[in-house]
Amino acid sequence: MVVNERKLIHIVGRQWLDHCLLANLLDLTSVLRSIFMNGKDYTISLEIEHRIRFTRGAFTGGNRMLAGLLQGGEAASGRVVKVLVYLEQAVAIAFPSLVDEIGAYFTDCPGFDFRGVRVDVGAEECKRNEKVLRRVWDGIEEEKVDRHSYVLVIGGGAFLDVVGFGAATAHRGVRLVRFPTTTLSQDDSGVGVKNGINAFGKKNWIGSFAVPYAVVNDFQFLHTQPEDIRRDGLVEAVKVALVRDGDFFNWLEDNADFLYDLKPVVLEEAVERSAILHAEHIAMGGDPFETGSSRPLDYGHWSAHKLEQLTDFALSHAEAVSVGVALDTVYSWRTGRISEEDAHRVLDLLLNLGLPLYHEAFELRDSEGKRKVVAGLEEFREHLGGELTVLLLRAIGKGEDVHQLDECLLDLCIEYNSEYEKNSHLLKVDVGR
Ligand SMILES: NC(=O)c1ccc[n+]([C@@H]2O[C@H](COP(=O)([O-])OP(=O)(O)OC[C@H]3O[C@@H](n4cnc5c(N)ncnc54)[C@H](O)[C@@H]3O)[C@@H](O)[C@H]2O)c1
Ligand SMILES: [Zn+2]
Repeated sequence: MVVNERKLIHIVGRQWLDHCLLANLLDLTSVLRSIFMNGKDYTISLEIEHRIRFTRGAFTGGNRMLAGLLQGGEAASGRVVKVLVYLEQAVAIAFPSLVDEIGAYFTDCPGFDFRGVRVDVGAEECKRNEKVLRRVWDGIEEEKVDRHSYVLVIGGGAFLDVVGFGAATAHRGVRLVRFPTTTLSQDDSGVGVKNGINAFGKKNWIGSFAVPYAVVNDFQFLHTQPEDIRRDGLVEAVKVALVRDGDFFNWLEDNADFLYDLKPVVLEEAVERSAILHAEHIAMGGDPFETGSSRPLDYGHWSAHKLEQLTDFALSHAEAVSVGVALDTVYSWRTGRISEEDAHRVLDLLLNLGLPLYHEAFELRDSEGKRKVVAGLEEFREHLGGELTVLLLRAIGKGEDVHQLDECLLDLCIEYNSEYEKNSHLLKVDVGR
């Protein structure tokens, strides 16, 4: 159908019509199609199992939990599947017979082609550059690990992040089973769905979302970490209690002395409750891959990430989160969201667990005299994309998103926490550690 030129100019404008004429689109259907374009939206729905298990001594002969878990996958079809294990060096040192135990476990177990244990360095060091990541890819290639094989990773949160990224990117994702070995990685990061390494001086700049095939929280690993690291990781339990479960917060308060003393059974209960709360939020919170800007599990993290960066990661993630949780809690009080009493309960719990409220990196200032940590807000916004969204507390166990923080008030809160920590009789450790 040839259409009236005046009408078309009215609908599409002169410039667009000239463009259509040039392209020889002279009938109404073609012109309209060129305006509205062709296309269709599809919804891709995914259902992914997020398997979390708690056990003790996963590789001891009598414990068949792991074999059952893996056989639920490909091995059930009768095919032999490969298993390649990455073990963090510090864990290998703490458990000298572990490499042999793992070997014996899979050799005794039909259905698996065991490709060995590769020991490598972990801790923050392994996230700084690509050396460990490259060795992970090398191993996967050398052993011809495919998308139906399993990569097992045993280590702290940093090691899980690097091996996890390697596994998620090799062949566009091979099956990963995580064995977190620190308090923090068992009660938080290990049950999550993220991985990453640092780049451009920023935490986890390179990384992906990838749901592991399974996470095995083996409590035997918890009790060999250095004491301060074992205790500090409880900060993520405090954090998740604050944003999701007031009863758990009360329990942490009631058991603070046992937790400080690292009483195994109490530590394990705290880790398990925290891991479940984290996993529930990820599985049922409606945004597992963080496409929105709201991040309840990142309570206290905007300043924590910046402080880690400002100290060149000398301040651990756990200590930085403690300082960040303290700051956002006092800010929540000072903006009238929670009571002074509740704010002090949070500060006192952190102190009772031997965790800091303040760090001297808060005093670093830019050329205009502004605290450098405040730039963390913009970096957090950049990281989320879109609008700045920071969670504050509405009550113990309940959060509320806000989109702006007041710099002068942040200043006062930082000073308040510095004084509170100095004057507290509760602080059990030297904060200069
Ligand atoms: N991917 C995520 O969603 C996510 C979330 C939170 C934190 N993280 C990351 O996790 C890392 C922090 O994890 P972390 O607190 O486990 O620290 P970590 O991995 O640095 O481990 C702490 C120390 O304990 C040692 N270690 C680990 N397990 C041990 C054991 N069983 N016995 C003796 N020593 C042991 C390590 O070698 C290291 O020196 C940070 O890089 C942080 O960014 C990731
Ligand atoms: Zn954290």
